[in-house]
Amino acid sequence: IKGLFETKPLAGRHVLVSAGPTIERIDPVRYLTNDSSGKMGVALAEAARDFGATVTLVHGPIKGELPSGMTTVAIESGDEMLHEMLTRYAAQDLVIMAAAVADYRPTIQYTKKQKKIDGPLQIELEETTDILRTLGEQKTHQVLVGFAAETEQVEVHALKKLERKHADFIVANDVSRPEIGFSSDENQVTVFEKNGPARHYGQQLKTDLAKGLLEQFAEVLR
Ligand code: CTP
Ligand code: CA
Repeated sequence: IKGLFETKPLAGRHVLVSAGPTIERIDPVRYLTNDSSGKMGVALAEAARDFGATVTLVHGPIKGELPSGMTTVAIESGDEMLHEMLTRYAAQDLVIMAAAVADYRPTIQYTKKQKKIDGPLQIELEETTDILRTLGEQKTHQVLVGFAAETEQVEVHALKKLERKHADFIVANDVSRPEIGFSSDENQVTVFEKNGPARHYGQQLKTDLAKGLLEQFAEVLR
């Protein structure tokens, strides 16, 4: 009887999550990328699904099986991720940028494999588009969540990102601690929001952390 009246915290909601690294090609066999297992983003997408949401996961190359019960969209570059996020943006209630987007791409992408040269190779890089910031600037009603990977002055940098990217929440993790983050199954984070206190989540499984985070985000959807 009890379960009959229980509503899931994200029932009827649309949630868009990005996960994993993006890769920026130099030529057909070489590329630039970031460290990222995609585990945190996948855990968030799965938790949102279990909370009753209609979930879309836009992901870079991640190892292991893709989650079921949601739409998954595979991309490689930051531009492809930007495009997939933007075309789905209007329909979303909650958007979480958990992807480790490469900050730079080669100015030139060669369509043929480049041969080795004698001596050092120089590659010119240009900035990729900041996807979170672009979403922040085009926000209408969505609750927008970003991550911040920091090795020092975590709070200072996280608060700057909150402001600059017009996010509602920034989930900050200290990536200088090798025992958590990246390929680990566990993480510990601090969530910053504009008009509220910082909330700390102690070291725990990413799957448990994802549930806690989504409960916090769901509070402001109501
Ligand atoms: N992000 C993004 N597009 C980019 C770079 C980052 O959407 N081109 C998003 C990430 O997905 C994350 C947030 O912005 O949600 C913060 O990413 P982070 O790498 O910590 O910050 P940057 O703004 O890239 O700054 P820096 O790497 O210099 O710390
Ligand atoms: Ca970055």
